[in-house]
Amino acid sequence: MRITYYGHSCFLVEINGKKLLFDPFISQNPLASNIDSGKIEADFILVSHGHADHTADLLSLANQTGATVVSNWEICSWVQSKGYKKVHPMNIGGHWIFEFGKVKCVNAVHSSSLPDGTYGGNPMGFLIETPDGKFYYAGDTALHLDMKLIGDYKKMDLAFLPIGNNFTMGIDNAVIASDFIRCDRIIGMHYDTFDMIKIDHDEAKKKFDSAGKQLTLMLVGQTLEH
Ligand code: NI
Ligand code: MN
Repeated sequence: MRITYYGHSCFLVEINGKKLLFDPFISQNPLASNIDSGKIEADFILVSHGHADHTADLLSLANQTGATVVSNWEICSWVQSKGYKKVHPMNIGGHWIFEFGKVKCVNAVHSSSLPDGTYGGNPMGFLIETPDGKFYYAGDTALHLDMKLIGDYKKMDLAFLPIGNNFTMGIDNAVIASDFIRCDRIIGMHYDTFDMIKIDHDEAKKKFDSAGKQLTLMLVGQTLEH
């Protein structure tokens, strides 16, 4: 799989021949000013919850790419009410087999409303399982015990975890989360974008390192192969 970082919690994951874009927030992110979102291509846009720092570019990028929007019922209904019809609504506990592989929606402990105040349903995380690799995209969440279910029943190659604190779990809890999910390869997200979520990169990496895990903090615009 090939991963490109567009800042905050927005990643493009190319896996099993498809392009999956997560939580598009680019045009309003000053740290992503080097990204030309007009060049982004996607087959699917997966949205963990409704907050603007995850949906600000959802409608424009859906229209630009023609991607299928995958999210909960409420967010998919909102997208359709804005005139974009290509959606696949899901909800926590359910999975669906797409062309690239399996998507399962899992619990996230957070809140969810859309930028115009519309109710955004429950926030979610995603488990993606394909012949090309498996990963967990946690969305915005606190540390929670349901993560142990992922560790007990799944073997994820890597996990995208929020580490910025204040709005989500911070570094210490993310280290515990990586134990719960039994995954040693973590890509950090939801940090540095706002003053309240600025982190010390060296300290964060050291904490994961001492737990025997690898934390990757990607540069905005960087692509890596896994
Ligand atoms: Ni949020
Ligand atoms: Mn957020």
